Formats: sequence, C-alpha cells, structure tokens
Amino acid sequence: MQIKKICCIGAGYVGGPTMAVIADKCPSIHVDVVDINKKRIQKWNSPNLEELPVYEPGLKEIIKRCRNKNLKFSTSIKEKISKADMIFISVNTPTKKKGFGAGKASDLKWVEACARQVALYASGHTIVVEKSTLPVRTAGVIKEILNECEVSPRKSHSNKTFDVLSNPEFLAEGSAINDLITPDRVLIGGDTQIAIETLAKIYQNWVPNEKILRTNLWSSELAKLTSNAFLAQRISSINSISAICEQTGADIREVSKAIGSDSRIGSKFLNSGPGFGGSCFKKDILNIVYLSEYFGLPEVASFWESVVQLNNWQQHRISKLIVRKLFGTLSNKKIVILGFAFKANTNDTRESPAINICKDLLEEGASLVIHDPKVCSEQINFDLKFESTNNFEEQQNKTLIEEGNWIKENDLSDSFKDADAAVFLTEWSEYKNINWDDVYEKMRKPSWIFDARSITNPMEVRNAGLNLWRIGDGL
Ligand code: NAD
Ligand code: UGA
Repeated sequence: MQIKKICCIGAGYVGGPTMAVIADKCPSIHVDVVDINKKRIQKWNSPNLEELPVYEPGLKEIIKRCRNKNLKFSTSIKEKISKADMIFISVNTPTKKKGFGAGKASDLKWVEACARQVALYASGHTIVVEKSTLPVRTAGVIKEILNECEVSPRKSHSNKTFDVLSNPEFLAEGSAINDLITPDRVLIGGDTQIAIETLAKIYQNWVPNEKILRTNLWSSELAKLTSNAFLAQRISSINSISAICEQTGADIREVSKAIGSDSRIGSKFLNSGPGFGGSCFKKDILNIVYLSEYFGLPEVASFWESVVQLNNWQQHRISKLIVRKLFGTLSNKKIVILGFAFKANTNDTRESPAINICKDLLEEGASLVIHDPKVCSEQINFDLKFESTNNFEEQQNKTLIEEGNWIKENDLSDSFKDADAAVFLTEWSEYKNINWDDVYEKMRKPSWIFDARSITNPMEVRNAGLNLWRIGDGL
C-alpha cells in the first residue's frame, strides 16, 4: 500500500514535531496535522516562527522548510480524516481525575473520541496508528469502534476497512528533533504484516531497517509504558541515594559516575535532581500501577508506585531544607527560582518539580522571582494558581494560593537583586556562566544558593562568599 496522505490528530508536543520530521523526510507524502484547539493551530501557522506552540531546537527550521508545502496545520478534522490513507492518533492521555481508576488509570476519552471520528469520516482502507501512549490492549478498543463501522450493513459507508497499529513515540522534549531523526529504535506493533511494513516503509526513508522493531500490538503498547517506568525508576533510585550522600559525606556525582561506569548499568539517567517532571513519567507509571491492580498483582503495583512516591518526597524534601536553612521562615524573604520548565530546552512545565517547590515556598510566605528563558508568565501563573497543569477546562474550579507572591524576571542578573536565596531547578545552559562575585554584591546577606541540578561550580560559589547547598553533596 502506498501512503500519499497522512492525517495526525493532535498538534501537541508529539504530533507537531513528529509530523514535521515525517514531512521533511518524505517529500512525496502530504501531512495534515489537525487539532480541536484553534489557538494552538493558529500558533503552528504563525508567520513568526518564535510563536510556534512548541519550543524544540531545530523545529522552526523544519517548519520553515515544509509548512504550507507538504505539511499543513488546521482544524478541518473531518475533511482531513476523510482524505487520509494513514491516521496517527496523537492526542493527550492524562491520568483520570474522577470515576473508576481516578488518580491512576489513563483517561481515554480523547482517544475514544478520535476513534469515533475516524470511524465516521474515514473512507476506503485506512491504517490507524496509535502514537499516543496507551494502556495495554487499547488497540482492542479502537478496533472495536472501527469494526462496528466496517461491518455494519446499515452504514452507508460500509466500504471502509481499517488496520490498527501501535507506534509509540520515544522522543524526549528538548531533544525531540534529534531523537526523531536518529531514534534508538522505532517500534511498530500490529497483527497485519502488510500494515506494519507500510508504516515501516515510511520510517525507512531515514531510519535503518534494523532499528525498526516489529512486535505484536500488546508488546508494543506495554514496551512504551515500561520504557518510561524504567527511566523514571533510575531517577528515583539515584535521588534516594542523593539523600544518603547528604547524610554521610559521599557525593552523588561521584557515586553516579562510579556506578554508571559499569557497562551493565550505563551512565545515562543517573543525574540526581529535584525529581522527574514532564507530562508522562508519572502518568505512565500510575497506569502500570492501575493495570497491575486490575490484573490482581498488588506487589507489582506497589513496587512501581514507590517510584512516584519517592519522586514526590524528593521535591518536598528540597522545599523543606530551603525553609530550614533560611531560619525556619520565608516571610519577607526573596527567593530567586532559576528555571521553571521541567527540563532544559523546552517551554513545557507539565509536572515540573518547580511547580510543587514554588507552591511550598509560597505557602511559607516567600516572595519568588522566577526566571526561565522559555516559559511565559501566563503559564507560570496558570501552574501556580491552579492545581491542574494544562487542562484549561478545569481551571475555573481551582483555589488560589493565599500566601506569598511571585513575579517573572527576564534579566538573569537583575533577578538576584536583594534576594536571600536562589534555587536552581532547571539546567538551562545560561545558568552555567553566572558571575558569582556580582551575585554576591547583589544579594542580601546571609545569602544562600540551592543547586538542585549540579549546575554550579561549588568552589566559585563558595569563594564568592555565598552559602551553597548542592543536591547529594555531603560536605
Ligand atoms: P499535548 O497535550 O501536547 O497534545 C495533544 C493535543 O491533542 C492537544 O493539542 C489537544 O487539543 C489535541 N486533541 C485532543 N483531543 C482531540 C480530538 N478529539 N481531536 C483533535 N485534537 C484533539 O500532548 P503530547 O505531549 O503531544 O502527548 C500526546 C501523547 O503522546 C500522549 O499520550 C503522551 O503520553 C505521548 N507522548 C508524549 C511525549 C512528550 O514528550 N510530550 C513523548 C512521547 C509520548
Ligand atoms: C521522557 C522519555 O525520556 C522519552 O523517551 C519519552 O518518550 C517521554 O518521556 C514521554 O513518553 O513523554 P521527557 O519527559 O521529555 O522524555 O524528558 P526526559 O529527558 O526523560 O526527562 C524527564 C525528567 O527526568 C525531567 O524532569 C528531567 O530533568 C529528569 N531527569 C532526567 C533527571 O532528573 N535525571 C536524569 O538523569 C534524567
């Protein structure tokens, strides 16, 4: 089967960059990215490439090359579905907020809505690809919805046929374009060989065939959840050891290097920090917890749940020690927050450890000066005022934090003025070259630097006369 037209439902952090790379690498394929969020689509179509809704190094160059040629962003969902040979479902799959499984299970209402729209508007033979991260056996649900339409003799368009594939995405934010261009692997799960090979052929335009793994549907769905769970587990493991380092005089950076040098362990994902953030690690682990409970495996559930618990503990542990070092009270104290994004090189703040840490500090009465090169004030306001992160529907019902206050400061050097402390929460590269003598002059004494990202040079900070706390530093 020759794919000429692709439609991707969902123009988010995955849909946008993934489709941009497919369009760039496959000039003969026309790619339509559709979304119900008009504002997001407007931003994807903005002539000013600085206004794209997703910040990713390398993305705007691709958009410039392909947009309005073989890559289009629109809200014409029905029309684009009806013309596509292949449809990617790349919508959000957050944790359910209410009802059965609330707090753990994935909310599949957006995926189901997509499947129903595809069932209604697709024509001829269509390959439906799960790009979203989904609980194991979701492909079964999608198939059921599509099959209803395929077989029902009462439907006027019963000439429709479908294949369903699972093709989870492994990109990490901040390095998405690079990850998409040179992936460690591409995973395609399915039960129809022709459909699998049709999708593989698209990737073969730039990915070596030996990196394209073919599995059954359920292995593919589960492998995605498990990859994230394993990565997050390493972070919780190293963060748990950071607390031991602080009590014993060991140094977490030295410990990480020593254990990471074992080729069986490997050196990646052993950086201790303020806890993992991002939209997926927590939700995907909780999904495994839910599935384990559902299948009567409570020991498996509690093993994975502890990874999330340790992560929450690490975030609050940092807030608590800041309060302790600042004499037990933050009233009338100015604290600079360096970095609000959940990691460097992204404007995404979903589940960012900065949110919980800032909320803790605000509740203690602190005045926060927040600096982040890519996150806008509107987003910070949204995150700090309301419990939920990106769910605009729910913001009405959330309570305002009464204590403390915050402002955004765009000038890094000015943010230190009269501050009692500065807390590094995101590893932005501009934070590596701070002039500590200048900072010392600007801050109120005694001044504290809290480095939760191992980004400072401790000698330079201490020699300038500042007090320093570093994650996992027992000295
Ligand atoms: P996102 O929230 O940034 O984007 C999802 C988009 O889907 C939104 O713009 C939303 O308006 C749109 N949408 C929802 N329902 C729709 C419908 N019925 N029709 C049209 N549009 C609809 O989410 P994301 O970060 O791109 O994640 C998408 C999926 O990919 C999730 O399952 C996530 O777990 C997975 N994933 C994310 C990442 C990542 O780095 N963000 C990486 C790998 C996998
Ligand atoms: C992660 C995975 O790395 C991707 O493979 C996956 O596709 C994606 O989740 C997803 O499914 O959403 P992402 O969350 O974008 O990607 O970013 P990571 O680089 O994995 O970082 C996640 C969090 O862990 C960040 O807060 C980061 O600061 C933290 N982290 C990472 C550490 O604290 N230490 C480390 O050593 C590595």
